[in-house]
Amino acid sequence: MQIKQARPSFWRLLVASVAVGAVFACAAVRAETEGGDEAVPDEVLTNEERIGEGKVIWDANCTYCHGKKAYPGKAPKLRPRLYEPEFVYSRIADGFRGMPGWSETYNPDEIESVVAYVLSPRFAP
Ligand code: HEC
Repeated sequence: MQIKQARPSFWRLLVASVAVGAVFACAAVRAETEGGDEAVPDEVLTNEERIGEGKVIWDANCTYCHGKKAYPGKAPKLRPRLYEPEFVYSRIADGFRGMPGWSETYNPDEIESVVAYVLSPRFAP
């Protein structure tokens, strides 16, 4: 009797946990694709004021690891011509391995400005 009662509840539990797991998996996948999908508007990428704002942030925070002031090997030399704005945005916001994320330090507008600077003709690491 005990076993007969236990069986249906076991299956119900299994079905429920699979369903809950599926919901979480979907949410995780969605969050991941959204994270790399941060479109930076063209009017930001070409806006001199935003590029200037990005340069200030770059000079203050990024040259420590990137660029001429960093000791060799600390971080890779940036190759802006190979990057999509969305890639630069997600690296700055979320970081990657040895690269710290900045989404707690800078708001999305400020991060967009840094993207605009890195991808601009003014970029001088
Ligand atoms: C503590 C050191 C450090 C600081 C500070 C830092 N970075 Fe990085 N960054 C790294 C490292 C290390 C990588 C390489 C990560 C990897 O691919 O393993 C990297 C990678 C990147 C990449 C991707 C390069 C590529 O070709 O894959 C971009 C873009 C970038 N950083 C931009 C920035 C910007 C903009 C700032 C300032 C807001 C910044 N980083 C500050 C260490 C740093």
